[in-house]
Amino acid sequence: MTKKEVKQRIEQLKKLINYHRYLYHVLNKQEISEAVLDSLKHELYLLEQQYPEFITKDSPTQRVEGKALDKFEKVKHKTRMLSLEDVFSLEEFRDWENRIKKIYPKGKYEYFSELKIDGFAISLIYKNGVLETAVTRGDGVVGEDVTNNVKTMESVPLKLELFEDLIEKSDKNLLQLSKKAFDFLSKGEFEVRGEIYMTKKVFEKINQERIAKGEPPYSNPRNTAAGSIRQLDPKLTASRKLEFLAYAIPTDFGQKTHADEHSILKVLGFKTDKYAKVCKDAKEVEEFWKHILKIRERLPYQIDGVVVNVNDNYTFKKLGVAGKAPRGAIAFKFPAEEATTIVEDIVVQVGRTGAITPVAYLKPVSIGGATISRASLHNEDEIRRLGLKIGDTVIVQRAGDVIPKVVKVFPELRTGKEREFKMLKKCPVCGAELIKKPGEAILRCPNKFCKAKNKEALYHFVSKPAFNIVGLGEKILDQLYEKELIVDVADIFSLKEGDLLPLEGFAEKSAKNLIEAIQNSKKIPLHRFIYALGIMHVGEETSFLLADYISKKKAIKKPTDLLDAFSKETKESLMELHDIGEVVAKSIVDFFKDSYNIKLLKKLDNAGIIIESPNFSEKELKLKGKKFVLTGELEHFTRDEAKEKIRELGGEVSSSVSKKTDFVVVGKNPGSKYEKAKKIGVKIINENEFLKLLNQ
Ligand code: IVH
Repeated sequence: MTKKEVKQRIEQLKKLINYHRYLYHVLNKQEISEAVLDSLKHELYLLEQQYPEFITKDSPTQRVEGKALDKFEKVKHKTRMLSLEDVFSLEEFRDWENRIKKIYPKGKYEYFSELKIDGFAISLIYKNGVLETAVTRGDGVVGEDVTNNVKTMESVPLKLELFEDLIEKSDKNLLQLSKKAFDFLSKGEFEVRGEIYMTKKVFEKINQERIAKGEPPYSNPRNTAAGSIRQLDPKLTASRKLEFLAYAIPTDFGQKTHADEHSILKVLGFKTDKYAKVCKDAKEVEEFWKHILKIRERLPYQIDGVVVNVNDNYTFKKLGVAGKAPRGAIAFKFPAEEATTIVEDIVVQVGRTGAITPVAYLKPVSIGGATISRASLHNEDEIRRLGLKIGDTVIVQRAGDVIPKVVKVFPELRTGKEREFKMLKKCPVCGAELIKKPGEAILRCPNKFCKAKNKEALYHFVSKPAFNIVGLGEKILDQLYEKELIVDVADIFSLKEGDLLPLEGFAEKSAKNLIEAIQNSKKIPLHRFIYALGIMHVGEETSFLLADYISKKKAIKKPTDLLDAFSKETKESLMELHDIGEVVAKSIVDFFKDSYNIKLLKKLDNAGIIIESPNFSEKELKLKGKKFVLTGELEHFTRDEAKEKIRELGGEVSSSVSKKTDFVVVGKNPGSKYEKAKKIGVKIINENEFLKLLNQ
């Protein structure tokens, strides 16, 4: 290659690598494998080593090449980095709206609502389209230069490009505005602000690694992210897999609204909030806030509320600044998820699989609108890690449907009356000696006939994801078990109305209804039957996987069919299944070898249990043979979840539209596949229609 050709090749490689970075980190799409991307990067690296004069600051190879520093330089912000006022209730939010409308009555009051990510703010300065400096917020006036570290983050573009493909041809406004922005930034300085954060998954992984090494775990993703960006060695930052979400462009390039800024950020190669939306009035903002509160737990990162901006930039400016915060934006926070209270006792519970769990009995406290009186402590190690004593004042955390947990103890508030918790050596219910299995942190009761375990097994068996026997709650099961009307789960099916009538709260009608519900539950899908068995380490997901696997080998119609099929399996054969490790495989094999379980499965046969494998039998697969293409963002699923659903029902997913495609599912901001589908006349359906198709 001539020098000129090398230069050209380097430019092409950079562009290609940046394009795939964008696909992966901004659009969550992947067209080429990581190995291929690595090999492109490697070629670029080799060329640059040969011709160092062609190395530029924006080269993908420069991401982890920054030198370790001994301190961070202080940098003054171009414009002050403000913060936000908080509101905590619908009432306070309405007050804010009334206030600003009074201050500038002539304004346009439409709101841009977006997620308030729990990370920390950063300002990125691009010079002629190339990342020049990245500065932390600091005190809002002066921050720290963390450029080398930020450059390691793949979600931060080193060079701004215009991804025009993303703009709908019909969207003339955006097309024009993005050209304007791009011309502007290509010739001078351009500032982008946003949030650096760590996903919950990465945070958990880091903590698991720390615990394994005997190091204390970090307290939350936000502080861990902030600590990771303030590492003097960029290699350490790179290993922390931080993410960046852009939310504002302080540089005036002719944008009129906050929504404009978000659209431009996206076409310039930044990841932006996909939930963000324009709300035409306060009512819509409230709906948005409620919706986000509902899905909050499912998000891959932590958020602590919603940021509401006056969408019209002119009105925003007119409203001005009060103290450190602009009047035209507000942080609409979610109810607190933490509170302090006192641990009044620690009580040991015996679970279905014999797991012994210490539970903290708390002085009742209200968190986010619900009163909490119990919190799980997991195991003895956890109590030790927290340094918890009975009587301690603690912080309890509750988020969504997750079981509340104790996250911190205040030893400084001790009175001297606190008591050390001593773990039991024997099962509190049956008195059997407790055991610890190799590789496990929890103690278990090994007694198969332990009352506590049997009761838990009954609760599990009738629960919603298992046999789903409505009306057969824990209190009724307890009574039936105590009166020895049932000994194991199979006995449930031979119950008669007369057995129920003597129990508390039963009349003829209710007894009849329950017996009917029991009889109707006898037909059960295979995955739910497997789950109902309560095999140790086999949850809903694994049950699904096992059902799929085993039904392909043998038709399963009754419980003993399952027994026959699984008795042919070995630890090794099961470990070949994706997501099944040694511990789980062993637990499954052991379960089907156990004489008690073999008898139970035979008894369930006799009780008349009929197993259905509708999702797996050829003729009933709803989407069998149907070819799907997905484009744009879906609200109810991630891309992977949608694909999985289609495949579960026998459909196929393809990445490109052709005449053979049966359905193109179109979400928010669809790509070129949507255009193509329209052109060749393939059936196009929206997310609602897709949901209907799945649930038919
Ligand atoms: S706008 C004028 N938008 O929240 C302040 N901030 O409490 C501009 N934050 O310092 C901030 N997500 O670190 C804005 N979508 C979002 C945000 C967001 C998180 C953080 C940011 C800011 C703090 C203010």
